[in-house]
Amino acid sequence: MTDSIRFLLCAPDHYNVDYVINPWMEGNIHKSSSDRSVEQWYKLHKIIKEHAIVDLVTPQKGWPDMVFTANAGLVLANTVVLSRFFHKERQGEEPHFKEWFLNQGFIVHELPKDLPFEGAGDALLDREGRYLWAGYGFRSELDSHPLLAKWLDIEVLSLRLIDERFYHLDTCFCPLTGGYLLYYPPAFDSYSNRLIEMRVPSEKRILVAEADAVNFACNAVNINKTIIMNKVSDDLKLGLTTVGFLVIETPLSEFLKAGGAAKCLTLRVTEPIIPDNKAKVLVESRTIRMEGHLLDAGLINQALDLIVEGGGSFKVLNFNLGEQRQSTSLAEVKVSTPSHEVMEEIMSQLIDIGAVIPTEDVQDAKLEPIKQNGVAPDDFYVTTIYPTEVRIKGQWIRVQNQRMDGAIAITEVDGYIQAKCKVIRDLQIGEQAIIDIAGIRTIRKTESREKRNQEEFSFMSAGVSSERRVELVVEQVAWELRQIHDRGGKVVVTAGPVVIHTGGSKHLASLIHQGYVQALLGGNAIAVHDIEQSLMGTSLGVDMTQGVAVHGGHRHHLKTINIIRRCGSIAKAVENDVLTNGVMYECVKNNVPFVLAGSIRDDGPLPDTQMDLIKAQEEYAELLKGADMVLMLSTMLHSIGVGNMTPSGVKMVCVDINPAVVTKLSDRGSVESIGVVTDVGLFLSLLITQLEQLTRPYSFVAKV
Ligand code: ARG
Repeated sequence: MTDSIRFLLCAPDHYNVDYVINPWMEGNIHKSSSDRSVEQWYKLHKIIKEHAIVDLVTPQKGWPDMVFTANAGLVLANTVVLSRFFHKERQGEEPHFKEWFLNQGFIVHELPKDLPFEGAGDALLDREGRYLWAGYGFRSELDSHPLLAKWLDIEVLSLRLIDERFYHLDTCFCPLTGGYLLYYPPAFDSYSNRLIEMRVPSEKRILVAEADAVNFACNAVNINKTIIMNKVSDDLKLGLTTVGFLVIETPLSEFLKAGGAAKCLTLRVTEPIIPDNKAKVLVESRTIRMEGHLLDAGLINQALDLIVEGGGSFKVLNFNLGEQRQSTSLAEVKVSTPSHEVMEEIMSQLIDIGAVIPTEDVQDAKLEPIKQNGVAPDDFYVTTIYPTEVRIKGQWIRVQNQRMDGAIAITEVDGYIQAKCKVIRDLQIGEQAIIDIAGIRTIRKTESREKRNQEEFSFMSAGVSSERRVELVVEQVAWELRQIHDRGGKVVVTAGPVVIHTGGSKHLASLIHQGYVQALLGGNAIAVHDIEQSLMGTSLGVDMTQGVAVHGGHRHHLKTINIIRRCGSIAKAVENDVLTNGVMYECVKNNVPFVLAGSIRDDGPLPDTQMDLIKAQEEYAELLKGADMVLMLSTMLHSIGVGNMTPSGVKMVCVDINPAVVTKLSDRGSVESIGVVTDVGLFLSLLITQLEQLTRPYSFVAKV
């Protein structure tokens, strides 16, 4: 027996499963046998007594989980941080544990009322005493970690739990003598796993498989070289014995019904202090402000979800609810993260959805010079589709050429500072790029509730593609096309060959003819299929009127390419009366510029196809300038390309028969996109009919 080691236990006099606060308790209410739990507890008590001194706290009626003394608090030397239980079902245990610690002469620290922390269930000392592993995600709040560091003067390493079966750190993580660690990696997020791997060398990490993990193998009591635990697999036992541990198994099935085992039932109250330890936490906190229709638009939920899913935690410091339908709300939220790295990641996403750093905390943007043409600094800020401003020398400057997935390049000529979105390859020595997330804000329009509902409706209705609903979206798109047309605006179409296969070419040609299209973007294929149809009546060898394959038709598209190559270009083919109708014909005739971006699978290509992809991207971007609407017709590839180059505020209508494509394209987090799941040929035909109705004079409507 090691005299100096003491454990606190609580007899199971009132133990039972009376409520459900973790997944193990589900279906187990009043299902634990009191005889068996008493028997199992005394066995454990006996084993511990053979290795250490056992202290007892008096069990209290009405607090059935008090047997789990690991949750009494966290002890280091003569100091204890008392638990603040997350669930009210256990909060009544707090004063009883507090009394015990005070009676023993501990220095007692209490966390603020609304800051949950569940003691040694969620905080485990490295057995070499070097640092404290602290869990968060279910029961304990990340914001408690800096207080642990301060009060216990120790380095705290925060680990995020992500599997609700392993809701306390001690259910999936067990530091052992000699720097070993027994743990179940899938219970943690990837950042936490990386942190563990950085601190514990691989030869010291003992990984537990799921089958052992669900038997609470990690919920073990380690006293020097002895490990006391519920039953485990032979494999794991062998692994532990090989590195010199003695495993003692003792059945604890009755306590598993409440979600606890050996470690939960004990609290080590002698934890020696290591003299040269110093408080240190990686946890960071920052305050953000959000303004807008936070509730109506779901912005606040989005922000809070994003913080939690990103591995952080939050506290809403202020929430000023806008009272009128049109008034906006204002929220101030404190964001905490386990490290600076996670903070940067979360903050950049929050900035993307319009969060701002309160003025008093705002700093200038951080700049780093470009050291190599076409290469950004490692930590460069990645742009979004939203209007962005950067703060330089105390001034907010609007970023030009907004697009997503770029860097922000800063140039200064004669004291005049310019900020511009650039794709990485265009960055030049002499420019500086913005790094980090300081001094950056994006500007989000606050749409009125009515407008948003209307937009959302159209998207939702498009997703569910009943015929009438498609018609409704078509009516809306036709109306907007007409308006853009009448005010001399710009509509850009991206189209794939499916437009031709589905019989949409005559409709698209007609749209171009009537002046509804100001630029066409596509690949080699749309042009080849369109021209094949004009010249030979087939599309990829299939007769477009009969819908059957034509004998020898598979050669048609190659013959088509050959003919255009002979002419020199599509425009020349039109000029020479070789090409006399169709989409490309109308483009040439109506001076509608087009760019055909090549790809590896292109036959030919047509002389007009731009096989230099960098040039093709530039030409696309050029034609997209000033667009009011982009009509994306069944081409995922070109539409994604276009989406990346287009700032928010440009209406996007994505039509595809595949719902996954529509979702992918319309999910820009902005309300300006409408998705329509339908056959593109049908969509275009409905669109033309609808546009005709909009232009037909009133007197044409027959009276009966
Ligand atoms: N039923 C208890 C709860 O959900 C079990 C506590 C287990 N304790 C532990 N340290 N893991 O709170």
